[in-house]
Amino acid sequence: MDFKQHITDKITEITGLDRAAVEDAIETPPDEKMGDLAFPCFPLARVMRKAPPAIAAELAEKLSGDEYIEKAQAQGGYLNFFFNRAKYIADTVTAARSAGDTWGSSDIGGGRTVLIEYSSPNIAKPFHIGHLFSTAVGNSLARIYKHLGYSVQSLNHLGDWGTQFGKLICAYHRWGDKDVIAKDPINEILKVYVKFHEEAEKDPSLEDEAREYFKKLEDGDKETTELWEYFREMSLVEFKRVYDMLGVKFDSYNGEAFYSDKMDEVVDILRDKGLLVESDGAQVVDLSDLNMPPCIILKSDGATIYATRDIAAALYRHRTYDFYKNIYVVGIPQSLHFKQIFAVMDKAGWEWSKGCEHVGFGLVKLPGRAMSTRHGDVVFLEDVLNESIDKTREIIKSNASKVDDIEDAAKRIGIGAILYTFLHSSREKDIVFSWDTMLDFEGESAPYCQYGYARGRSILRRAEDIDYSAPDMTKAVSDEAYTLIKHLGAFADAVKDAADKNEPFYINRYVTNLVRLFNKFYTTNPILKDDVDEDTKKARLAIVDAVTRTVKTALYLLGIETVESM
Ligand code: ARG
Repeated sequence: MDFKQHITDKITEITGLDRAAVEDAIETPPDEKMGDLAFPCFPLARVMRKAPPAIAAELAEKLSGDEYIEKAQAQGGYLNFFFNRAKYIADTVTAARSAGDTWGSSDIGGGRTVLIEYSSPNIAKPFHIGHLFSTAVGNSLARIYKHLGYSVQSLNHLGDWGTQFGKLICAYHRWGDKDVIAKDPINEILKVYVKFHEEAEKDPSLEDEAREYFKKLEDGDKETTELWEYFREMSLVEFKRVYDMLGVKFDSYNGEAFYSDKMDEVVDILRDKGLLVESDGAQVVDLSDLNMPPCIILKSDGATIYATRDIAAALYRHRTYDFYKNIYVVGIPQSLHFKQIFAVMDKAGWEWSKGCEHVGFGLVKLPGRAMSTRHGDVVFLEDVLNESIDKTREIIKSNASKVDDIEDAAKRIGIGAILYTFLHSSREKDIVFSWDTMLDFEGESAPYCQYGYARGRSILRRAEDIDYSAPDMTKAVSDEAYTLIKHLGAFADAVKDAADKNEPFYINRYVTNLVRLFNKFYTTNPILKDDVDEDTKKARLAIVDAVTRTVKTALYLLGIETVESM
């Protein structure tokens, strides 16, 4: 039985008020010392023709303590409730332990389909740090929505189409060497691409040649298409290596190219609805009524563009998945683009487009270029991940810790540290990367949380001979235990908040606080010390068990792995 439900019932019974209104009015006091829940009596003043403090006092008298309520106390116009701590701890710990990795989950999703499009790098180009931000947020959201009972599809909308491929193919024919490229694809492809731009400055006719190659590609020319496929495959091999390191999986890699033959229909629909107007030879949808620049659908040379491909993609997704939500995790600089295409879809009368949502994120700053990079200004993501792993390995070694498999731990911690950094604040804030903060085992960081988890696991390993499956939880009651378990009980709220706002940082903040409270708990409530009696040991072990499971699940929702010892 939920404590809030119980209190709602009681107040409803005594006051005769509408139950839903009572439930709605109940709030959490700003300070724990004021109780666990409070009912403001102000709205009752008119009905009862009494001052709120008098009403609170009267209600407090009528409400005797029971199994759930330790006491109800009037304070000003509020009626404050103090839970029966032993009951709360026992119920919550038992529930968390029996829920296992489903703790904090719910079925509010009811199996509805949520599409999360994230990562979406451009092929034949390096995977850069902004794509990593998208990957971190998107992967976490995918896990969060699943935890809430949605049916989630992770989509990678690869940037694999556009005029730049004409340039690339042109450059390849002139300066490329398949054998060299096969050894280090992205770097070599990048090299010929850079060369194209250098040469095109001297010889503008290269641009025309590139346009012709793209035309060939659009027309399905066999040789050109094969080359494009080769670039795409090579890029995917590299991208997947990064995804493997991160533990990220996609259900679809349908990129922009996939929609290249689905755009005519979009153009036809928009034309039929009278939405297309001519502007300098291009076909656009006028959005001046919404104070936005027009959305270009067909360029003056008849070529379709990014926006058109996105509209075709949305239509395809609607038909294929009949989605409830279609979320795009893409940087804030593309906000206007998404506002425009959503507006066009709305003008087209597509009701379902209301389920489309752009989830933006800020920029990543690398202060003093502390990140090593092999390639001038481009920061290669894999380098960043490896650097984090290397630094973590050094820290583990210098800590003389008890890690069995240093390599495995360095990977989990090093990569976790980076993911945590992306999910630490509201996603729209810019991020300043700092190794010191990221790998500070005592600050707000992944290693800090992972360390808390490992501590808990080590306590449980040492208690292997103790049976704490059904302890007497009254033995565990203390201020620290209560504060910790109150937070444990708030996990489901954090998961819901994260999904409501598409903000994984709610879970990041939740798990960091959980570990902080846990550390405080086990330093003030000794667990396996000799002078602790058996029953208290068992009750405290049950808390350690419930908390470590929750830390693991919360970190999982952030895409971060745990280590058993550190
Ligand atoms: N490939 C694009 C880029 O790197 C991101 C794609 C975003 N998704 C979309 N549906 N437009 O900037």
